[in-house]
Amino acid sequence: MSYAGRRKSSLAGAGGGAGAFVDQFGGAKHAATSLRRGGRLPVYVAGVFFFVCVIFMYGEDIRSLTIIQPTTRGPPKPRPDTSSSSGTGSTHVVAGPRRDLSSSQHQKAAVLHQVDEKPKPAAEQAVVEQPKKVVEAPKTKQVVKKNPKKAKKARRARKTVVVPSALDVPETCDLSRGKWVFDNTSYPLYKEHECQFLTSQVTCMKNGRRDDTYQKWRWQPRDCSMPRFDAKLFIERLRGKRMMFVGDSLNRNQWESMVCLVQSAVSPDKKYVSWEGQRIVFHAWEFNATVEFYWAPFLVESNSDDPKIHSIQHRIINADQIAKHAENWRGVDYLIFNTYIWWMNTLNMKVMRPGGQDWEQHDELVRIEAYRKVLTTWAGWVNDNVDPARTQVFFMSMSPLHISPQVWGNPDGIRCAKETMPVLKWQGPLWLGTDWDMFHVARNITRAAAPRVPITFIDITTMSERRKDGHTSVHTIRQGKVLGPKEQADPGTYADCIHWCLPGVPDIWNLIIYTRIMSRPALQVA
Ligand SMILES: *[C@@H]1O[C@H](CO)[C@@H](O)[C@H](O)[C@H]1NC(C)=O
Ligand SMILES: *[C@@H]1O[C@H](CO)[C@@H](O)[C@H](O)[C@H]1NC(C)=O
Ligand SMILES: *[C@@H]1O[C@H](CO)[C@@H](O)[C@H](O)[C@H]1NC(C)=O
Repeated sequence: MSYAGRRKSSLAGAGGGAGAFVDQFGGAKHAATSLRRGGRLPVYVAGVFFFVCVIFMYGEDIRSLTIIQPTTRGPPKPRPDTSSSSGTGSTHVVAGPRRDLSSSQHQKAAVLHQVDEKPKPAAEQAVVEQPKKVVEAPKTKQVVKKNPKKAKKARRARKTVVVPSALDVPETCDLSRGKWVFDNTSYPLYKEHECQFLTSQVTCMKNGRRDDTYQKWRWQPRDCSMPRFDAKLFIERLRGKRMMFVGDSLNRNQWESMVCLVQSAVSPDKKYVSWEGQRIVFHAWEFNATVEFYWAPFLVESNSDDPKIHSIQHRIINADQIAKHAENWRGVDYLIFNTYIWWMNTLNMKVMRPGGQDWEQHDELVRIEAYRKVLTTWAGWVNDNVDPARTQVFFMSMSPLHISPQVWGNPDGIRCAKETMPVLKWQGPLWLGTDWDMFHVARNITRAAAPRVPITFIDITTMSERRKDGHTSVHTIRQGKVLGPKEQADPGTYADCIHWCLPGVPDIWNLIIYTRIMSRPALQVA
C-alpha cells in the first residue's frame, strides 16, 4: 500500500472538510444577504425564514446585550450556529457562524474565574510537589524505571513500566492565571507554511492577513513557568499511544494545532492524515502514535452527529445516551473533551424524552440544566469506563467569542476584524457574553462526578478572552474558498470571531496539556 497515495487523498479530504465548514457558514451568510436585498423571501420556508431573521438580528442583539445589564431570563435569542463544521466530512451544510450569547448569563461574567486543578490521581502522585520557578524540558532521553506497584495497577498491561515525569510543573500551579507577553524570539512555535496539515480555515496569513503579531505571544502563568514545547520529547511520550480530541469545531481547531506541534518531530514520509467516519486521524506511524479528532459537538448523541450532514433546523440531543460515541473512546490514552459553542444557538435545548423513540419526542430544557445533564452523563461514562491507570482525561473550558468591540473599548471596531493586539491593559472582567454558569457547571462536574477517574479541567476561557486579535476573522474560507476581496471588505457580515488562526491561541491551550502530561509519570508498555 502506498502511504504517499493515502496522504494525498487525506490532504484533499482536509481541504474538503474545511471547505464544508465554511460552506455552512457561507450558506447562511448568503441567505442573509439576499434577504437583505429583499429578494426571494417567499421562497424560503418558514423555518428558514426564522433562521435568517435570527442571523439578521444578531448584530443588534449582541450590541444591546453587551451594553445593557442583563436582567433575568430575557427572551430567547436563538442564534445560528457556526461551529458546526465537523471537519470530518466533506459536504456539510450548516448554520452560520454567528454565535449567540445568552444575555441572562452575562452577569456572572463579572468575576474572572481561575481554574483549580483537580487533585492528582494516586497513580500520578510521583510529581514533585514544590513549585519550581523555571522549568525547561530536558533534552535527554527519559529514563525508564520499573515500578511494580504501578504496573500492577494497569489492568491489561503485559509488561508496563513507569516513565518518570520529564517536567516538574506542579499540579497546584494554576496555569490559567497569568498574562500575555510579547515574545518574537520563541514564537510562533511553528511556521504556518511549514505545517502541511493546516486547513485553509485557519491559515490566516496565506488567506491575506497582513499583521502577524498575533502569532508572537507567550503565555506567562503568574506562579510558575511554562516549559517550551519539545516535539521530540512529546512524540516519544505518545509512542504506541492514542490521543483524541472529542467535541466541536473548536476542539478540531485545537487538534490541528496539536498536529502541527508534534508533526515536526516525525520524518516526512512517516505521517499522514486520514478521515475515518467521525474521526480525523493524524498518524505518526514511525511512532505508532495517533492524534485524533472525534466529532461529537454535544458529546452525547444528537441529531447533529453526522460529520457530513448537520444542517439541522432544530438541534435535539439525547442527554442520557453517549455509548454510540463513547465506544470509540475506549482505550485511548489521552482524551481531551469540549462542548460549548453549539449550546449557544438557543436559550433552551431540545432534549429527547427518556425512552423516546425518535427525535420528535422531546422536551425543552433550560440550557444550563441540559448542559448539566449531558456532562453528568459524560462524566458517568468516564467514571465507569476509563482506566485511570492508563488514560488521562481533560476537559477544555469554553473558547470565547469576540463580536462586540465596544466591550473592550473600541467603538469603531467591527466584530473582531481590525484587532491586531490582545487586550493588555484592561482592568477587570470583559463582558464578552461568555456563559460563566456553564463554566462553573463543567468545572464542578469534572471535580465531583467521576470520583474514580481524575479529570483535569483546563481553563482556557480567561486567557483567551484577552485575545481579540487571534481569530480567523475574514481570513478564512467559505464554501471551500478563501473569502474574496468583497467578502473581506465586509467583516460585519463575514468575520468569523469564533475560530482561531494557527499558529496562534490554541497552541497555548495545547502547551498547557503538554505541561500537564509531561509533568506526570506515564505508563509505557515495554
Ligand atoms: C522583535 O520585536 C522587536 C520589537 O518590536 C524588534 O525590534 C525586533 O526586530 C523583533 N525581532 C525579530 C526577530 O523579529
Ligand atoms: C501500536 O499502538 C497501539 C495502541 O495505539 C497498540 O495497541 C499496538 O500494540 C501498537 N503496535 C505496536 C506494533 O507497537
Ligand atoms: C459548584 O460547586 C460549588 C461548591 O460545591 C457550589 O457552591 C456551586 O454552587 C456549584 N456551582 C454550580 C454552578 O453548580
